[in-house]
Amino acid sequence: MTQDFWLERWTHGEIGFHQPQGQPLLQKHWPALDLVPASRILVPLCGKSQDMVWLAERGHRVTGIELSDIAARDFFAESGLDYRRISRGPFMAYAGERIEILVGDLFDLAPAELARFEGFYDRAALVALPEDTRRAYVDHLMSGLRRGATGLLITLAYDTSLMTGPPFSVDDEDVGELYGRYAHVDLMAEQRGLAADDPLRQRGLTDARDSVYRIVRR
Ligand SMILES: C[S@@+](CC[C@H](N)C(=O)[O-])C[C@H]1O[C@@H](n2cnc3c(N)ncnc32)[C@H](O)[C@@H]1O
Repeated sequence: MTQDFWLERWTHGEIGFHQPQGQPLLQKHWPALDLVPASRILVPLCGKSQDMVWLAERGHRVTGIELSDIAARDFFAESGLDYRRISRGPFMAYAGERIEILVGDLFDLAPAELARFEGFYDRAALVALPEDTRRAYVDHLMSGLRRGATGLLITLAYDTSLMTGPPFSVDDEDVGELYGRYAHVDLMAEQRGLAADDPLRQRGLTDARDSVYRIVRR
């Protein structure tokens, strides 16, 4: 998946992955991570996710990383939050009071920057990436995150004969293989089924499984 693929999706408003009401699995399972309110939370490949507002309302300081400046601008406009644009190394930072979005490539975030975060949240990030990039993504995140850093990961698995990604199907075994070398991985919950209005139905899926993991960097 090239950067142009995603930038064009944003230019043409083809963002069926966006959840205007936020992600219920985050709201249900995040509290069990026991991260203190002041924790700094990384949201890789954040899009314009309203989940960042929910995390900030819990007291966290939130940093999203996103390729598209349309996503960053829309996020602040739709959330009604003020921001300043500041150039920061390879990124353009859209900096609000408790939430900032760094516009640029996640792979340009240096390990020393990653080390600032106590927590992370991944919904539709790992599964947005094809297999080879997925491994590079996990290696990159884990190369910088500190020991004890704790994340919530939400994945999607489905019958790959019915649809090709993104989102790509990522199952338990994949998560264990990718993260197991670096972190303790606990499956917290699983949820089967697709809502009647889920856009993935139009692409041929009739069923899917969402899985929620706690990932703790060793
Ligand atoms: C499937 S969307 C998910 C967005 C968000 N997590 C959500 O739940 O709505 C994946 C996002 O990752 C962004 N993206 C893809 N590759 C990226 C990269 N290398 N660095 C930063 N953002 C990237 C895309 O622009 C897109 O907005």
